[in-house]
Amino acid sequence: MGDTEKKVKLIDSDGRRNDGRMPHELRPVKIEAGVLHRADGSAYVEWGGNKVLAAVYGPREAHPRHLQKPTRALVQCRYNMAPFSVSDRKRPGPDRRSNEISKVISEAFSSVIFLEQFPRTSVDVYMEVLQAEAGTRCAAITAASVAIADAGVPMRDLVVGCASGKVGGVVCLDLNKDEDNFGEADVPMAVVPRTGEIVLLQMDGHLKPEEFDQAMAYSLKAAEQINELQKDALRRRYSVSLDEFRAVQPPAPEPEEEPKYDVYHEDQPGVVE
Ligand code: CDP
Repeated sequence: MGDTEKKVKLIDSDGRRNDGRMPHELRPVKIEAGVLHRADGSAYVEWGGNKVLAAVYGPREAHPRHLQKPTRALVQCRYNMAPFSVSDRKRPGPDRRSNEISKVISEAFSSVIFLEQFPRTSVDVYMEVLQAEAGTRCAAITAASVAIADAGVPMRDLVVGCASGKVGGVVCLDLNKDEDNFGEADVPMAVVPRTGEIVLLQMDGHLKPEEFDQAMAYSLKAAEQINELQKDALRRRYSVSLDEFRAVQPPAPEPEEEPKYDVYHEDQPGVVE
């Protein structure tokens, strides 16, 4: 740790972090499904200062064709950071970091999508980071997962991304930018909530085994919370309010006119209606 890092106070005397959170607390997360009309499925996630858009196409014929697999679908992911997403303008286009993130995210989704149902096709997943503030790969996985579900691609469960790390000697959930820059470790992961299966796990820095266990426990617990937000976003996307339901219903047919019969009144034999 360098001199600058020593000067940054990340945990104060009452155990709070520099953004006021306790070690086990997440940043605010908002998820919306179906935000783009051209894509087969889409989602938008705001997670602390991160803003990520995900769009999904497919399963569709895989291109380039030589990549096609005769027995299953491919999952082709592209994680991209907009040039304006970070404080110093990021050079547009892929780089080593974004290629690596795209690869590990593709592998994560390949283990949950029912690929064998769609031979020779590709599920194309685009993740655009519009604003970055640490934890973008987790926000991108979380958004992409909702977008894949929105596209109707069959998969075993949604996937949730979440990270924990170590800051000022304390294990903390969901590191912010300063914590990511000046903390001791960051462990992003992706989990399948229904089975608890880990489909992505990376680590930057060092943790003792007991710290690693604590970090995993924080992330797994937070993943349940985030999974609820994902499901809620999908429910909101597909539930129709009564007003919307009425608006799309064809107008009720006019009641048919009753056939007219003569009514004979027994008590008034002369009166026929
Ligand atoms: O975003 P994530 O934590 O998944 O990945 P990272 O490589 O650990 O990057 C941490 C943070 O550094 C990003 O979220 C961005 O805020 C920032 N960053 C940056 O400012 N410029 C880059 N070229 C890459 C990352």
